[in-house]
Amino acid sequence: MKKLTVKVAKGYDILIEKGILSSCGAYIRAVSQAEKVCLISDSNVCEFYGETVEKQLKAAGFEVFTFVFPAGEASKTTDTVIQMAEFLAEKELTRKDLVVALGGGVTGDMAGLAAAVYLRGIDFVQIPTSLLAQVDSSVGGKTAVDLPQGKNLFGAFHQPVLVLIDPDTLDTLPPHYFADGMAEAIKMGCIKSASLFEKIEKNDAHGIIEDIIYECVKRKAEVVERDEKEQGERALLNFGHTAGHAIEKLHNFTTISHGEAVGIGMVLLCEAGERNGLTQAGCAKRIAAVLKQYGLQTADTHPLDEIVAAMRSDKKRTGSAIKLVLLHQIGDGYIHPVPFDTVPAFFDV
Ligand code: GLY
Repeated sequence: MKKLTVKVAKGYDILIEKGILSSCGAYIRAVSQAEKVCLISDSNVCEFYGETVEKQLKAAGFEVFTFVFPAGEASKTTDTVIQMAEFLAEKELTRKDLVVALGGGVTGDMAGLAAAVYLRGIDFVQIPTSLLAQVDSSVGGKTAVDLPQGKNLFGAFHQPVLVLIDPDTLDTLPPHYFADGMAEAIKMGCIKSASLFEKIEKNDAHGIIEDIIYECVKRKAEVVERDEKEQGERALLNFGHTAGHAIEKLHNFTTISHGEAVGIGMVLLCEAGERNGLTQAGCAKRIAAVLKQYGLQTADTHPLDEIVAAMRSDKKRTGSAIKLVLLHQIGDGYIHPVPFDTVPAFFDV
């Protein structure tokens, strides 16, 4: 088993092991004196793993209530979180009880938010089952849902008390979801670790996935420890995301996946960085090659000026500049604020 500890105020462990789902009850009991547990999962994941986790929780002496919502980003709304909170109230969970999130990023984000606001905050455990959630979103305590005005606008920072990662759950993941998660792993290599990037470049990640998850989570934990609330360094994790989000928006969040859009965003940012003399020449090409290796796209169908216009209308921008994440070189990301008015020139549109 691989183990990491995230040293934030109330530190927590991340345990990575194939098959850990089948012994999750004991690990959860070790961090919680709860009487009741609300297991939150989506309709797809619950079908595969709900019963195993429920049995484990019951064997560990918890009274278990399961809340299942329809799988997909369309469920990621305030309505669903309110339904979750009402379910917790109906089942009379108290402040010492527990929420367990079993699923991908949408499930973790929503169950985490429900746990953050119900009774002003109860404990929750993350059991991420998608690669994207295992390498990124289950660690660090970001929870949120979408608003009609934009993605992830309604949320809170609420750290889990434990993260259990079972790479075996990736066996039931459709291939394009694996690729989506790889985009986030590639991102982590780009901003923080040239050796991780090379590992992903030189191997088939499928064969060393446990190692890749560990490497990503280790680096993410270090960033979160230094900057839990994204006042500075944590924004590096958004490499490729500002452009990626603009691309997702241009596709109405339907015809392109998050990972694909982030991949294209990383290439665009490196191309612009290279053109402006801020990024080592050749980075964009290298990133594009590794994205292709994992079946991800490297360019979008929309013209660059449309992507840049969509970036400039992002609700999350701060003040008079857009904080772009650039690379000095692979493994070394940095934040480069670009005044709002000069963003088109920066991208040469
Ligand atoms: N997924 C980016 C972050 O957790 O900050």
